[in-house]
Amino acid sequence: MTAVGTALGKDLVGLEPLSAEQLQLILDTAEPFKEVSERQIKKVPALRGKTIVNLFFEASTRTRISFEFAEKRLSADTVNVAAVGSSVSKGETLVDTARNLEAMRIDMVVIRHGSSGAAKFLGDRIASNVVNAGDGKHEHPTQALLDMLTLRDKFGKLDGLKVAIVGDVLHSRVARSNIWGLTRLGAEVGVCGPHTLLPRGIESLGVTVLPRVEDAIQWADALNVLRLQLERMTAGFIPSLREYNRVFGISSERLRKAPKDLVILHPGPMNRGVEIDSDVADGEHSVILPQVTNGVAVRMAVLYLLAGGRPGPHQADGGER
Ligand code: CP
Repeated sequence: MTAVGTALGKDLVGLEPLSAEQLQLILDTAEPFKEVSERQIKKVPALRGKTIVNLFFEASTRTRISFEFAEKRLSADTVNVAAVGSSVSKGETLVDTARNLEAMRIDMVVIRHGSSGAAKFLGDRIASNVVNAGDGKHEHPTQALLDMLTLRDKFGKLDGLKVAIVGDVLHSRVARSNIWGLTRLGAEVGVCGPHTLLPRGIESLGVTVLPRVEDAIQWADALNVLRLQLERMTAGFIPSLREYNRVFGISSERLRKAPKDLVILHPGPMNRGVEIDSDVADGEHSVILPQVTNGVAVRMAVLYLLAGGRPGPHQADGGER
């Protein structure tokens, strides 16, 4: 099946190529979809008859389940494929896997993959819409969109907001997507972490480097706290987890020195007691669970727009037929 050109193009590979208008369109389209998840019958017929394959070649809890809920709440038919248990484990390539799925007449592929560029590689080779659910260290666009929606809920706007991303920025696709998306919508982004975990030359992306976590806490309106991605580290980037927590961990003791109450985000999964203490993660200024709730609405919006849907008063009831 041939995917149609939409307000977002054929695929959502990252936020880097999107304009401010396209980002705003996704966030605005997500708004009415929030309410669908609060209904007793959590379903609208917007993607009835569409078939979506979720190809998850890396572990995921939030993103995989959130995409599946989004698809089901839009009435799409969904199939989940993991590397384990599929013919990928016998050596079949990504493109051959997707082409075989297309031979069964699918419409969209949602892909998580350990290699940066995997989503674009696939999108360039198949006719179905491709949505990047996280590719290596490159981008995790729907995570950044849900972060932005959550910040917009909290502050009313993104323009002028100061968001500090704290932690393992080097290995983080979440950081990259947040930097592209937030700066394009007028927010200021700071990055903070051990110098071994900050990409060299990151200032060229228009961000402020905050060398100490105390600097980030003084500067920011919100902190987006990142996990140390030990699974992607090929060398000793930090002396120890205990040392990392002592120097960069977000604790209530540190936050008490902030000039204002900081909103706390974390994309999950969290390592409590390493990058964030439990009383902060579960505290009154944490929006970590609202982020997860917004993830479903954002993913509904992305899937709806890529399928050619138009935002408007009808979308959360009937949508496009
Ligand atoms: N935030 C995020 O991508 O979480 P999962 O790895 O659980 O999907």
